[in-house]
Amino acid sequence: MQLQDILYSQGFGTRRVCAGLVQQGHVSVAGEVATDASLDLPVQGFQFRVDGVDWPYQEKAYLMLHKPAGTECSRKPGTYPSIYTLLPAPLRQRPQKGATQGVQAVGRLDQDTTGLLLLTDDGQFIHRMSSPKHHVPKVYEARVRHAIEPRQIERLLAGVVLDDDPKPVRAAACEALGEHLLQLTLTEGKYHQVKRMIAAVSNRVEGLHRARIGGLVLPADLAPGQWRWLSAADLAGLKAVQPESA
Ligand code: URA
Repeated sequence: MQLQDILYSQGFGTRRVCAGLVQQGHVSVAGEVATDASLDLPVQGFQFRVDGVDWPYQEKAYLMLHKPAGTECSRKPGTYPSIYTLLPAPLRQRPQKGATQGVQAVGRLDQDTTGLLLLTDDGQFIHRMSSPKHHVPKVYEARVRHAIEPRQIERLLAGVVLDDDPKPVRAAACEALGEHLLQLTLTEGKYHQVKRMIAAVSNRVEGLHRARIGGLVLPADLAPGQWRWLSAADLAGLKAVQPESA
């Protein structure tokens, strides 16, 4: 693929802008400043540098973000800054079918929820991870107002009815990590589900954090607001989640 097309595919702007980046000496390949935007290069494993920042060529982008509190998972946020402002411009501009679409969050977290959020421009991956058929487990840690009672845990495991659906929803796993700290595993993603389930057992969420999705744990060294590419091993683990028979 020509260097200018590689840059275009990775979100660096129109082909003309990308050719300009090369001509103006912003792009390096294998440690050398590139001069020819039409240079043909193999994309597999290709790395390049733009203005001192290293980029791997990614046919599809998969990343994790440590979502900080006070951010909205929307491109057009109402009150708080968008999580997308935490990503570099090329990730927000990656083209899809000729339009600049960028990566999208795989599901949403509330503005005050922190923790692991996946983003990608692979629509099939978003579908697979979000589809209720696949039951991808998501592990949350909820700080609650009132001391946790064993009966509350029993009810969360047995299933509670939320106001908009007569079918009970249950936690796949639930345990107290402290007097006011509950760990809860859900395999579906209804609106405000953790908060509503905990309210249904007469307690109240005062802080919510997502620690894990499938086998992927939020790395301890990924600070709030930071993002990282998913490794091939991270991705293989997530993609290996199989549909369960209901
Ligand atoms: N459940 C909630 O109530 N909020 C979230 O952000 C995620 C799950």
